[in-house]
Order: sequence, then C-alpha cells, then structure tokens
Amino acid sequence: MPCRKPKTICLMSNPFRNITGTFDVLPDPQSSGGDAIAGSRAWQELEAVIRRVMHRYGAREIRTPILEPTELIARGVGQLTDIVSKEMFAFERGDTHYVLRPEVTAPVMRAYLQHNLEQLGGVQRLFYIGPCFRAERPQKGRYRQFHQFGAEFIGADDPRADAETVLMAIDIYRELGLTDFTVRINSIGDAASRPRYREALVEFLTPLADQLSDISRQRLESNPMRILDTKSEKERALLLGAPIITDYIDDESRAHYEAVKAHLTAVGVDIEEDPFLVRGLDYYTRTAFEIDSPVLGAQSTLAGGGRYDLLAEDVGSKKPVPAVGFAAGMERLFLALSAAGTTLPEYEAPDIFVVALGDAAAEWTFSAVHDWRSSGIRAVYDLKGRSMKAQMREANRQQAPKVIIVGDAELEAGHVAVKDMESGEQVMVPLDQIKACILD
Ligand code: HAM
Repeated sequence: MPCRKPKTICLMSNPFRNITGTFDVLPDPQSSGGDAIAGSRAWQELEAVIRRVMHRYGAREIRTPILEPTELIARGVGQLTDIVSKEMFAFERGDTHYVLRPEVTAPVMRAYLQHNLEQLGGVQRLFYIGPCFRAERPQKGRYRQFHQFGAEFIGADDPRADAETVLMAIDIYRELGLTDFTVRINSIGDAASRPRYREALVEFLTPLADQLSDISRQRLESNPMRILDTKSEKERALLLGAPIITDYIDDESRAHYEAVKAHLTAVGVDIEEDPFLVRGLDYYTRTAFEIDSPVLGAQSTLAGGGRYDLLAEDVGSKKPVPAVGFAAGMERLFLALSAAGTTLPEYEAPDIFVVALGDAAAEWTFSAVHDWRSSGIRAVYDLKGRSMKAQMREANRQQAPKVIIVGDAELEAGHVAVKDMESGEQVMVPLDQIKACILD
C-alpha cells in the first residue's frame, strides 16, 4: 500500500536503516552493499575457532568496554595518526570525553595497568574478540563498525613472544582452512634510533616533494615514515631509492629482529621482509608485521601487529612494560574465506519438528517439547496454528530430520506418528517411547 503522507513516518516502508558502514548479523547470511555478510551461526563458529586456538597458546580472554576515555586513545595510538586525527567517533557528556574504541590494544594496556595484572606474575597472555569503530569511508573490507580478534602478550620482551603472536594469527587462519596469505615483517627500531631514520628519510624526500601527493607532502612535515605506507604506484617508484630503516636501527633491536625471524623460520613460516612496513599506529617499537590476503583487493590486510614497549608509559605507567600483540579483522577474514570457497556452518537444524493439529495436540506439544529440551533435544513446532501442509513445509524449510505428527485423536489413542524426512518412512510410536525415538 503506498504511503500518502510523506512528512509523517511511514511504518509500511520502514524509515530506519542501519548506518552506512555497519551491518546487521542475521541468523541467515545476507547481502549488504555488495558485501556478503556471514550469518550469526558462522560468526559463532569463527569465534569458537579463535577461542580454541587462543587457549592452546595459554591466552585468556579479556573484555574491555566499548567506551573509553578519548585521551587514552589519543595518547596511546598517537595524536597524528589517521585514527585519532580523522576517524574517531568521539563525543562529550559534561566534562567527560568519550570515544567508541577504534582498537583494543590501548584499552587492554589500560586494564592491565589499572588492575595491576603484573602482580599475577609472568607474562599476561590476553586475547579479545569484539567490535571497533572508525569513521573511515566505507568500502569493501572497510567498515565503520568492524570486529577484531587479537592478542596482547604484556610483560614479554622475549622475541619468542613476537613470533608467537604471528603464529597465533596463522594458526587461526589455517584452522579455518585459509592458507593463501603472506606474512610481511619489519623492525622499526627503538625510540632513540627512529629520529635518525626520520631525518635521513626527510632528507631523501624533500627534493622530491613536488612529486608527492598532497597527503604525503603533509606527512613529510608531520609523520614522514607514514609516506612509506603509500599505496600510490608513482610514490612507490619514488621510494625505491629511499633509505631503509633496518640500516638505522640500534644493535639490540637488530638482534631482536633477527631472533624473531629465526624463530618464525624455524617453525616453517615463510616471511617476507618489508623495510617499508611501518603500521598506522604510533605505539610500535621494533617488530611490526602484517598478514595480507591476495584476494581482498584494496583492503588486503587481514591482520597487523607488533611490539609496543613504550605504550604503557604513554598511558601513564611509571615504568616500562614490554609488550607485543596483533589484531585481525573478522569481516575481512570472512571475505577471504568466501573467496577461497571455504564456508563455515551457517545453520543448525532442529532434532525434531512437531506438527500439531487440534487444541489438545497443541497443548501436549507445548509441554512435550519443554521436557525434551531439558534433555538437550533441539525441538521446535509451529506457533501459528497453521494447516498440516504449511507445518510440514516449515519442517522441511528448517531441515528437521524427523517430524512428529500429532492430532487430538492420536493423543487419545496414546501414540503419535514419527516421520523420517530422508526416507519418508512413518511409524507410530507410543507416547512414553517418543523421547527414546528422537534420541535414537
Ligand atoms: P590495525 O592494523 O589498525 O591494528 O587493525 C588490525 C586489523 O583490523 C586490520 O588488519 C584489518 O583487518 C582490521 N581493520 C582495521 N580497520 C578496519 C575497518 N575500518 N574495517 C574493517 N576491518 C578493519 C590495530 O588495531 C592494532 N591494535 C593491532 C595490534 C594489536 N598491535 C599490537 N597489538
């Protein structure tokens, strides 16, 4: 029916839509703006795999709030980063400044320091799964609300910890059947060695400034190392002769880097050294890595991470806390899995569907399914009191392997019909034997 009053809310055409760059996860998969969004069952399966692999590494789950103080993210991620300068969903209430977390590393470090998790001793191996928010221009693989899983090893300066975070991500991908990805790695040295490199880079790029894009020219002033991350072919060509950071890093960082690479190689990981890999967040020191998928197009990075030994002090710790971690996009992982033809289970059929005809049968069904469910049986029935044909159609749609057909007359006679939907065979079963028959 057409809606005649344009100025009033038209309930027929649902005026509300989800915000661009966000999406609903429905029980069945859907298409949204060209992207195939997995259904809730597939998300649960992905989360189960992540948890399983994380537990193998001794990591324990941490859940931090979606809302964090803006200052934490600004100081943690860095004022000059794109995330903080352009992409935060930030707002104020009274004197408090809030942000919808754009990432989880700074919040996890906040929680570690706030709850003095150091007192538990050893290295805290923490993992998380949850939503993040960035006001980026939405496109395939890039959303405004997206989901990350990740892990942070806090209190760890051993290069094996760096290698383990890479392995964790890889193990999760392999467990899901994804094998086509590349691991790029670099060392960006410590805070003392980086200014020497920055200076050399600026010296190299300044004479080329008029050939750089506007954004790179701005970065030449504010954050020259980010120019290395350019996607422009022309700028990449200009960078071919640029100084390389690993020639400038301190001896300890170099030894650390060599050890991380040796550990990864020792367990058969193919790594690609990328001297231009710098990452878009300011907290990194030494190790930086990214895992890319060749099937993802422009947003090809599945996961990124590295060491961030200075973050704790940046967010208020009185002493340094060495740490390393990674985070991975879950939507991009679904896109990569789907391109590789790997699917996660999208549906779990009920064990039994009851087709009930008549009032007494409907009453009996209500109590019987309640009893079966408490024995772990997935039992459903039609709530609309429809015809037998419609109820059978529903049982078919739900892919129930067995259907119980019960009418008032059958109940009085003390039995019901049980139909095997695959063979089509139908048998009469006494009421007191139905549960055993379902479980059979
Ligand atoms: P990041 O590189 O900003 O690192 O994000 C990690 C991953 O999240 C990316 O590789 C990508 O898969 C996914 N991702 C990021 N932004 C979006 C978006 N707008 N839409 C869809 N997916 C996105 C971090 O967040 C660091 N906290 C990683 C880390 C953990 N470093 C140390 N520990």
